[in-house]
Amino acid sequence: MYFCISKQQLQIGIMSTRFKRTLVTSALPYANGPVHIGHLAGVYVPADIYARYLRLKGEETLFIGGSDEHGIPITLKARAEGVSPQDIVDRYHELNKQSFEAFGISFDIYSRTTSDIHQRVASDFFRTLYDKGEFTEKVSEQYYDEEAKQFLADRYIVGSCPHCGNEKAYGDQCEQCGTALSPDELINPRSTLSGSQPVKRKTKHWYLPLDKHEPWLRQWILEEHKEWKSNVYGQCKSWLDMGLQPRAVSRDLDWGVPVPVEGAEGKVLYVWFDAPIGYISNTLELLPDKWETWWKDEETKLVHFIGKDNIVFHCIVFPAMLKAEGSFILPENVPANEFMNLEGDKISTSNNWAVWLHEYLEEFPGKQDVLRYALTANAPETKDNDFTWKEFQAHNNNELVAVLGNFINRAMVLTQKHFNNKVPTLGELTEYDRETIAEAKKVKEAVESNLEQFRFREAQKEAMNLARIGNKYLADTEPWKTAKNDKARTATILNIALQITANLSIVCEPFLPFSTEKIRAFLNTGRFDWNSLGSFQLLPEGHELGKATLLFEKIEDEVIERQVKKLHDTKKNNQVGADAAKAVKPIKEVIQFDAFEKLDIRVGTVLECEKVPKTDKLLRFLLDDGLRERTILSGIAQWYPNPGKLVGKQVCFIANLEPRKVRGILSEGMILSAENADGTLALIEPERTVLPGSPVV
Ligand code: MF3
Ligand code: ZN
Repeated sequence: MYFCISKQQLQIGIMSTRFKRTLVTSALPYANGPVHIGHLAGVYVPADIYARYLRLKGEETLFIGGSDEHGIPITLKARAEGVSPQDIVDRYHELNKQSFEAFGISFDIYSRTTSDIHQRVASDFFRTLYDKGEFTEKVSEQYYDEEAKQFLADRYIVGSCPHCGNEKAYGDQCEQCGTALSPDELINPRSTLSGSQPVKRKTKHWYLPLDKHEPWLRQWILEEHKEWKSNVYGQCKSWLDMGLQPRAVSRDLDWGVPVPVEGAEGKVLYVWFDAPIGYISNTLELLPDKWETWWKDEETKLVHFIGKDNIVFHCIVFPAMLKAEGSFILPENVPANEFMNLEGDKISTSNNWAVWLHEYLEEFPGKQDVLRYALTANAPETKDNDFTWKEFQAHNNNELVAVLGNFINRAMVLTQKHFNNKVPTLGELTEYDRETIAEAKKVKEAVESNLEQFRFREAQKEAMNLARIGNKYLADTEPWKTAKNDKARTATILNIALQITANLSIVCEPFLPFSTEKIRAFLNTGRFDWNSLGSFQLLPEGHELGKATLLFEKIEDEVIERQVKKLHDTKKNNQVGADAAKAVKPIKEVIQFDAFEKLDIRVGTVLECEKVPKTDKLLRFLLDDGLRERTILSGIAQWYPNPGKLVGKQVCFIANLEPRKVRGILSEGMILSAENADGTLALIEPERTVLPGSPVV
């Protein structure tokens, strides 16, 4: 089987001749919240590994990132906080940009979709398609809030779910039973903006007729890109097999890129239309004169790094837009990842079930590579995976510290001790030395072929394998023993160990950029290029080394336990919140004002209050109701063990409820209490003392 070249290898061979440069993009995260480990694991670390690898190989590479700053969730968050959408995106754009930078995500540019350039590029893009007749127009009926004077996106409408009765179902989904809904299905729909009942109004929108694009998309994806990851290919196939429908590319909203067509006032481009154009506008912002080479030259290889929820937009919708425009290249690959869960649960921004990057940076300063490493070791490449703090600790302690750090440290310390910190002379090689070197040389190809097929987890394993080879070599040759009587042999062993260290500084660079910088400082050398990987002459004999410090440090149990506790405290808080939310009873049906007016609610002053003998629950109140004394029984004894203390207080009661005899006592009305989530009751008291008999209005 030695000479069998796989189809994939053959394709790589062909591809590397066809392309001259690579344009790497990573999904533009919404600027409505901080980025977390799920983002990093699924999109940004793999994209960064890939971009760094290509640059190290000396290939022309551009890596584009940025914030996605439009869309309804941003407007909802702004509304909830009472600030403008621009305030929200300014805040998170900055925060996320800094987090990415701190983690060494090596974007060539990280810009934003509220930039002037983007507004112009996105607007022009739409206009080009519009002028070419690539859109269809359709007038449809949509819900409109007459009070807020605004069309309502599905999310802005709530009502009762026709399936489970949940009274707070959204116009796009019921979060209680999970059913996807359309606003028409909601019973008693209400606007979340004003609370009013929305009305149907006619509105015009522009549609991208994906159905017309289906034939070439089928050919392009299903026939010409069989090498795409199976999760990506599979999702595309199922979309295509269901049949594509025209998609609206505009919305009635006041936040976004205005639709550049007459009569489109109050309409903006749909966020998923403008966001991917962000890749183009960010390129143009960075390279105003050369951007077209990156987007329009057949020799550019375009690769989109995304999460699985973005597949349809990057494999079907955006390519259809590019094709419709006519002058752009299409993506060569879209290596989408599945999701990273956290300690067994789906990461959730709204439930605060996440490890936020900015918090990690505060709590683990200087340990960016550890997280990069742990996330890649467990990357959700083929299925959803789970991040646990225990595994994070194990990756650090058992691999980074025990294998990589330990090997390099031994090589450095022994050289310092026995050779005055200078690279010793390579003498005659034993059979075992040759085997080790041969093994080490194989690492390059193994890492490369995995990286080129977007198998980052495997690639990192292969890179670490070089440290394992080194560790084993030292364990087997025991230079600390030979140092006692065979200086020449010791020199050879350490020369080999140091050459392996230098190789590690190359092969680990895409994965652990901060640590490899340190290794280079240890070795007192600059950056080697990727193509010298496998060489055993990276460090000349006699070369003076730098000073070795600790590369990685052990992470103790209590540090991990603290993180786990922090998460579980979050969960407890969420539970309390969720229980309370569930306990809030639905609002009863709407009544007319006169129904309210029929109730005579008044304030009375407590003259006497005592437990009704032989009952658990009942208190007998004697009230001054302003006209006379009145007796009312109330079932709140449990919560007022010293009823005598209520004398002198004021309470509210219904004065015109038909009197009723309970336990032989006539009760003339009902005293009002508030019922807590747990069923406890608390009397309602006017905020200031009023005249007994005052009506509650
Ligand atoms: N903001 C989107 C998300 O977080 C991703 C947009 S990717 C782009 O899911 F291509 F549209 F920019
Ligand atoms: Zn439901």
